[in-house]
Amino acid sequence: MNNAVSEKSLFEPTTLVDPFDFYEEQRSKSPVFLDEATGTYVVLDYDLITEAVGRLDDFSNQFDVRLSGGQDESDIEKDEEMQAIVSQGWPAVSTLLTADQPRHTSFRKLVNSAFAMPKVNKLEDSIRAMSNQLIDGFIDKGECEFVSEYAIPMPVKTIAGQLGLDRADADTVKRWTNAFVDRLSGMMTRERQLAAEREVLDFQLTLKANMDDRRKEARDDILSDLVNAKLDGERPLDDAESLSIIQQLMVAGNETTTAALAEGLRLFATNPEEYKKIQADPSLIPNAVEEVLRMSSGSSGIWRVMHRDAELGGVMLPKGAMVMLRYHAANRDPKQFENPNSFQIERKNVRTHLAFGKGIHMCVGNMLSRKEMAVSFQQFAQRIDNLSVATDAELVYPPNMMLRGLSALPLKFSKR
Ligand code: HEM
Repeated sequence: MNNAVSEKSLFEPTTLVDPFDFYEEQRSKSPVFLDEATGTYVVLDYDLITEAVGRLDDFSNQFDVRLSGGQDESDIEKDEEMQAIVSQGWPAVSTLLTADQPRHTSFRKLVNSAFAMPKVNKLEDSIRAMSNQLIDGFIDKGECEFVSEYAIPMPVKTIAGQLGLDRADADTVKRWTNAFVDRLSGMMTRERQLAAEREVLDFQLTLKANMDDRRKEARDDILSDLVNAKLDGERPLDDAESLSIIQQLMVAGNETTTAALAEGLRLFATNPEEYKKIQADPSLIPNAVEEVLRMSSGSSGIWRVMHRDAELGGVMLPKGAMVMLRYHAANRDPKQFENPNSFQIERKNVRTHLAFGKGIHMCVGNMLSRKEMAVSFQQFAQRIDNLSVATDAELVYPPNMMLRGLSALPLKFSKR
């Protein structure tokens, strides 16, 4: 058996749910390999992923078809019911994540400042107030289901507020996000795909109405910035481009931050000595945030498509091939992180993790999610003691090709 072809598939639901043995075994055989069942290539090695994200002439981000449930447009066109929904909305266009240079640079410039440190620092007080309010909701009970009671509302409300969504409440934003996330999972039934397409249409129509309002009267929010922006100083964005940017900010920002918050609380609850350290010395929290990001890697893998035939780690990747850069595996690579499966909040080189990617597509929301995590861990450490995972809890990471996060986390604790 050729080592560059895996015997089993990474994308089997059972492997996706618990991929650690697979990473280790396959990394030692061939860290770049063909996943035969899906016909895609996968990269597991820290150094090779770092190399790939810098080789922009070889590895392209134009992997749009993977973001719409793996169905290409001709499949959708053949399905009349699906087509009836899709035709009422706007087509998917490449803006940030799925655009290459120079187009990518033009769009990225438009959103950078909205998520830069000065803007994020201004949000700190409202993030802290929200954190306290969410903790107030369950602190007297001595228990909570952390995902639904904290980790979902925190990022959903933060990003909805920044976008300036007044016609949509947090539950609606979460429903839309779920629809986009299910499309990413690569595991939808046709019924779910139909329902997801309806949600996407609802998102598009609601956001279009909001943008029309901003054209009449601008506010201090991202929707106003977008409707007034000029691409390269030359022309306004069209509606499909604006909707693509908003969708990415919403989806990329919600599910991933929810996953990082939940994994952080699980790690603190199961490593009480590390939790005690942040309670005693809050200045350790920024490094602890990085260690949680390294271990959780909620954005577990991102696609690239080969621009041309090119070699990586001794394996020839043919033009047009889909390649998954597995950030989740890179962050557990023992060549980069000693004892990678242990949670060490004082780990020295943890800032070299790839949880936000690297290079031109590195996460635009990284400072915002780091802030949400740091404030959340601070407020927990200050207010909550004796954190533990409920003994009868079954922790489930639903299988998804690109995202990894707990669906629920029942916690027990006492008031500090
Ligand atoms: C812990 C939370 C987060 C994680 C783990 C995460 C992870 C990532 C990763 C790995 C990439 C790189 C994709 C690539 O290599 O092609 C990325 C890009 C991106 N992220 Fe995040 N993200 C998080 C939070 C956020 C937030 C809060 C936002 C928005 C407010 C956001 C918006 C984006 C966007 C728009 C891109 C595409 C950037 C580009 O292509 O230029 N993310 N994210």
